[in-house]
Amino acid sequence: MDGGTFLITGASRGIGAATARLAAGAGHRVALLARDAAGLHRLAEEIAAPDRVLAVPCDAADWDSVREAVGLVVRTWGRLDVAFANAGVSVDTSFLGTRGAPPPEWREMVLTNVYGPAIAARAALPELVRSRGHFVISGSAAGRGVRPGNLYAATKWAVTGLAQSIRAECVGTGVRVSLVLPGLVDTGGIPADRAGDPKLDPADVARAVLYAVGQPPAVDVNEILIRPVGQAPQL
Ligand SMILES: NC(=O)c1ccc[n+]([C@@H]2O[C@H](COP(=O)([O-])OP(=O)(O)OC[C@H]3O[C@@H](n4cnc5c(N)ncnc54)[C@H](OP(=O)(O)O)[C@@H]3O)[C@@H](O)[C@H]2O)c1
Repeated sequence: MDGGTFLITGASRGIGAATARLAAGAGHRVALLARDAAGLHRLAEEIAAPDRVLAVPCDAADWDSVREAVGLVVRTWGRLDVAFANAGVSVDTSFLGTRGAPPPEWREMVLTNVYGPAIAARAALPELVRSRGHFVISGSAAGRGVRPGNLYAATKWAVTGLAQSIRAECVGTGVRVSLVLPGLVDTGGIPADRAGDPKLDPADVARAVLYAVGQPPAVDVNEILIRPVGQAPQL
């Protein structure tokens, strides 16, 4: 089985890990990127296909780290077919009051959620142009609705624009760009005050990613917005 090479940032848990499991099961060679090397190696062992899984410790918000990780994947497997910029973090914020994390902690979220997929694109696109490959980004339903005082939602609005900007620059290259925008997903990344809300399973989002990737080369699934049944429309 050879479904091409599939790089995933934020692969140590949650949506990224679920996508890695599904992609490996569909025959892709998967490169798992995250900071938690032990978590990546556990997942690689679980996938149990040593010649088709690569664990690559990487900080998705650091240019040198991302560039080196993409380089390692290409040196190992000779090509890159899919890059899924999925790593992200969420901290609670308020602009008006003092609720949530103090402002110095907002910085990591902006860098991971916005700068991260931007530099992933910069590192991966030359290889994706060569393979006429696919760039996929984790957006969020939060990047569509207005949430008071919520910088996380604003980072995901930025990601919506980023996907469109990357796609516009890739016109004529054969590269496809898909933005997957989940509603609430049952991972460690959700805020405590929404623990009781309806949630998707990470595998539900993974299937959406694989749907986009599995289309014929001439079909560019621009966006998939997927919410759990019963999620309030403004969220
Ligand atoms: N859960 C939801 O309800 C939901 C809804 C919509 C969109 N999303 C988006 O989906 C994506 C995945 O979220 P999730 O819910 O699966 O979160 P999660 O379970 O908290 O996992 C986050 C992943 O991102 C990685 N990560 C965070 N910062 C990183 C960095 N600087 N460098 C490398 N990896 C980093 C983490 O790995 P390490 O800590 O090991 O680095 C982990 O693998 C995010 O972009 C999130 O915004 C989530």
